[in-house]
Amino acid sequence: MMLNETDKLWLSEVIEKIKEKMDWVSDKSRNKIPYTTIDGDYDDRSIDNPSGNVADGINWWTNGFWGGMMWLMHHETGNNKYKEIAQISEEKLDQCFADYYGLHHDVGFMWLPTSVTNYKVTKNLESRKRGMHAANLLAGRFNLAGGFIRAWDDLPNTDTRGWAIIDCMFNIPLLYWASEETGDPRFKQIAMRHADTAMSAFVRTDGSVNHIVEFDPFNGDVVKTYGGQGYEEGSSWTRGQSWGLYGFMMSYIHTGEVAYLNTAKSIAHYFIANIAESGIIPVDFRQPNEPKLEDDTAAAIAACGLIEISKVVGAHEKDVYLNAAIKLLRTLDQSRSDWSRNSDAILQYGSAAYYADSHHLPIIYGDYYFMEAVFKLKGNDLYIW
Ligand code: GLY
Repeated sequence: MMLNETDKLWLSEVIEKIKEKMDWVSDKSRNKIPYTTIDGDYDDRSIDNPSGNVADGINWWTNGFWGGMMWLMHHETGNNKYKEIAQISEEKLDQCFADYYGLHHDVGFMWLPTSVTNYKVTKNLESRKRGMHAANLLAGRFNLAGGFIRAWDDLPNTDTRGWAIIDCMFNIPLLYWASEETGDPRFKQIAMRHADTAMSAFVRTDGSVNHIVEFDPFNGDVVKTYGGQGYEEGSSWTRGQSWGLYGFMMSYIHTGEVAYLNTAKSIAHYFIANIAESGIIPVDFRQPNEPKLEDDTAAAIAACGLIEISKVVGAHEKDVYLNAAIKLLRTLDQSRSDWSRNSDAILQYGSAAYYADSHHLPIIYGDYYFMEAVFKLKGNDLYIW
């Protein structure tokens, strides 16, 4: 990565801060699977189930990120305590397979950063088996008529048989892995069919993306789009932009299909054009001016995708993507982080959704993607996805 001297210095300082913080946070949270903090301390989503929903608690879609953070730290430091902590969380997730009900398409987010990474690093066959179980669950959600992977099982009073969401672009790398691992093309075929559908049904001509598209589950016609976790229908939920940007880039990396790269670039151009001078990312690029709701997780995820794009484009384009990524990451470090012992989390300004009950709180995947982006910049990425 071609960084100037100032950026190199900044990067090495951030990496030192991450190492220092993760050292004590990991000891303190060894047996937890955190999602957010309560009065500065990590919660434990492997036990807590605040919504009472079957898809929450141990089935909560973010439960792979803590393991992923531990594997990133193991890769960076070589310290085996991080491997052990990652394995504790991986084993807890076995309960999800046993329960079955409560699972959803986010099995990629859950088992890629845990079991699949464990298998890639250690060749542990139990972990490979878990990854394959998860891949088969994801493949089983494919709708042949519409060429999409169903996102969620039914929500209260909502028939979701035809629902697909942009976030799934980040679950399908599990299918690419399963094909790469077994030599069986079925998984990759499903992933590419889903990505093709997402290119045509989710990505708008200006590079912005829909969050939710509802298809007729019997004939595959598009029925309706929804604003989902963003402001309203037709708006531009920033984390959805990030899932699309980085997700299409991952599909390009796994398949070499140039249409996916061009789609990632188109979403990236839209994203970059909407980054404010402050570098702060709102919850939705089309939200009203007030209240000023932010989502630092969208910035961290986008930064990862922008760095990946910068690696494959020509020298004349590289800096556009790289400079945008560095601007996002520097803003996160300098004005949206808590590096002290007052909080177990690094980033403090995440928002799950525009209409969520609370905003500007730590969310585990914000820290995960912030760390991933920083290690990518250093050239020491673990390639979890
Ligand atoms: N994948 C769900 C979210 O980004 O909130």
